Amino acid sequence: MERIRDAIPNTKTGGRMKKKKKFFETAVLSSRETERGSGIYRLMLYAEKQKPAIGQFYEIAPDSSSPMPRPFSVADYADNTLTFYIKAIGKNTNKFCELESGDTVKLIGPLGKPFKLRPSWKKVILVGGGTGIATLMPIAKERGKKGEETLALLGGRDESQILCQWHFKRQNCVLRYICQTEQCERNLVTHLLEDALKNDGGKSIVIACGPRPMLKRVAEICKNHTNECYVSLEAIMACGIGSCKGCDIPTTKKDENGNQVYTSVCSEGPFFNALDIDWAKLIPPLITIESRKKATTTKIDPLQTDLWGYSRNLLLKYPIMTAAGCYTLESVNDGPVNEYGIGAHILKSLCVDMRQGNPEPRVCETPSGMLNSIGLKGMGLKEFLSISPMILDMIEKTGRKIVLNISGNSIKEFVTLAVALEKAGFEYIQLNPSCPNNKKSKKIFALHPRLLYELVYEVRAKAQRVYLITKLSPKSQDIVICASNAYDGGTDAFSIANTYPGMSIDPNTLRPRIGGNTGGLSGPALRPINVLKVHEVFQAGLGIPIIGVGGITDADSTMEYILAGANAVEIGTASFKNPDVFKETSQGLKDYVKKHQVTNIQDLIGKVVLY
Ligand SMILES: Cc1cc2nc3c(=O)[nH]c(=O)nc-3n(C[C@H](O)[C@H](O)[C@H](O)COP(=O)(O)OP(=O)(O)OC[C@H]3O[C@@H](n4cnc5c(N)ncnc54)[C@H](O)[C@@H]3O)c2cc1C
Ligand SMILES: Cc1cc2nc3c(=O)[nH]c(=O)nc-3n(C[C@H](O)[C@H](O)[C@H](O)COP(=O)(O)O)c2cc1C
Ligand code: FES
Repeated sequence: MERIRDAIPNTKTGGRMKKKKKFFETAVLSSRETERGSGIYRLMLYAEKQKPAIGQFYEIAPDSSSPMPRPFSVADYADNTLTFYIKAIGKNTNKFCELESGDTVKLIGPLGKPFKLRPSWKKVILVGGGTGIATLMPIAKERGKKGEETLALLGGRDESQILCQWHFKRQNCVLRYICQTEQCERNLVTHLLEDALKNDGGKSIVIACGPRPMLKRVAEICKNHTNECYVSLEAIMACGIGSCKGCDIPTTKKDENGNQVYTSVCSEGPFFNALDIDWAKLIPPLITIESRKKATTTKIDPLQTDLWGYSRNLLLKYPIMTAAGCYTLESVNDGPVNEYGIGAHILKSLCVDMRQGNPEPRVCETPSGMLNSIGLKGMGLKEFLSISPMILDMIEKTGRKIVLNISGNSIKEFVTLAVALEKAGFEYIQLNPSCPNNKKSKKIFALHPRLLYELVYEVRAKAQRVYLITKLSPKSQDIVICASNAYDGGTDAFSIANTYPGMSIDPNTLRPRIGGNTGGLSGPALRPINVLKVHEVFQAGLGIPIIGVGGITDADSTMEYILAGANAVEIGTASFKNPDVFKETSQGLKDYVKKHQVTNIQDLIGKVVLY
């Protein structure tokens, strides 16, 4: 296939074969912090026969948990050495900054359109902010070589952020820089630009790179002074070659049908004429949490969460529960899990009959997640009822909230379980009609709206005193219809959602990696799917509590669900690697509400601000 594609002449290049861009491995020559505490590192990589042009960048292959490579501008290429300046701001840049001489990295590039400096540009002003300064270095070098006049205006949070001043001086630039720490009102690099253009008469060409708000202001100033302006934009990229359209930005251009034209930063940029960018759309207005809070709230404990219901409420000290199936009560009592931060424990699915579960192996790792095919292994109802006095006694003594998760092959089995557990004295039940691993059941009830309605209705009718949560499936064709049916059936709350069916195959053994052949995908890979499902159900406005579940690892991912519309969350997979996840997440949520001065976390439910 690859060979056939290679043999097709490229019409864009007039039939000439374009050399394919591929990742290649390079050795790290050195990595050093530009100034102690700056957090910016100069990374030098050995790379032969490269021809990066001005404005081009490379993508560095990421850490194994990230699926997308990370782009960086070439600051310099000389003596088979590529130089980048990298600021440690996230999971990959932190790792890249820790590289040492002798380590290797994978690179792809040069990518992007070369930015051509025209001979007619006599006066040029470079405006750089933060690591954007690195992108401008080759321009200063090129003009320096020709002895052309360049004014370099550089800005940063403090002086340590203003990179490579020596470089601009060495290239005959007139250098002016400013730090935000300066005690004056006009301490931004855009203030320097305003001053520089006052008497310029629109003659200078302005070339800028830095944070987007800075570039927007540069574009405005240049428009007001009639100066030609080019900006180098940053965008989150995936393919880096213009095929996925993940880095598209809005332009001021329209197509023949009058629709706005979007363009890819990676293949058409990163340099653009500032007049071609739709700045208003590119940089939406800043939103503060303050402006999204409810005006009145009387609750005192910021994390206390009240899941309201038909005959009783589920009051949680923390809006975090253990996800069903991941922990038994014993593992919380005597095992590694830290109890602090857990609002309620949801136990493993209980079935009418004892189950042996699915064949082994039952779990396997996948990119950013795991597959499980446990198959509802566990004791049957009879055995559970025999130990229930002990559990109820423990609930009474400790005040713990225990939610029993139940699953069955038929509506009758669900009803039998719910009725027996209510009678035994349990107050909270989660229905699991969405398990992808129940090989004994002919149907996944949660995927059939009508069946789901009947199931919830029958359980509700026979067990009226319990708090009833229905766990939906992310695979539902229309989760809003399923949720509406469960609502009509009488559920008190939704848990959104269970694992997503998946498969993983070992190419060496030719066999699936789990004994059940297929399994349920959990962990971070599931998160965006389930956040959307929560958002969709919240938007439908059914008005009952939603518990978000899938890939939550910390306070930030919990907030994703809350902002999408969840009242509380469940955490499963993340606790295998980090049994302190409940404690850390609740602490993180406390810090979050304090930082944003929110009285109660529930004030933020569904407060995502859509574009
Ligand atoms: C053409 C181009 C050239 C770049 N040149 C440089 C450079 O020379 N030096 C440098 O330090 N950085 C540069 N960047 C930005 C750099 O790619 C990001 O800082 C990096 O991808 C962050 O990865 P991370 O895993 O550490 O951050 P993550 O953990 O993924 O994210 C941390 C934060 O950074 C934001 N972010 C992530 N990726 C990008 C991105 N591509 N652009 C803007 N914000 C992002 C996220 O929204 C998040 O807020 C450039 C970006 C582009 C598009
Ligand atoms: C090993 C394992 C066993 C599970 N068992 C059950 C179960 O018995 N009942 C159930 O409703 N969900 C079960 N789940 C699904 C979780 O409750 C949860 O919905 C899913 O894992 C997504 O959350 P996470 O990404 O935080 O793990 C199980 C998940 C895992 C990983
Ligand atoms: S990253 Fe794929 S089109 Fe730009």
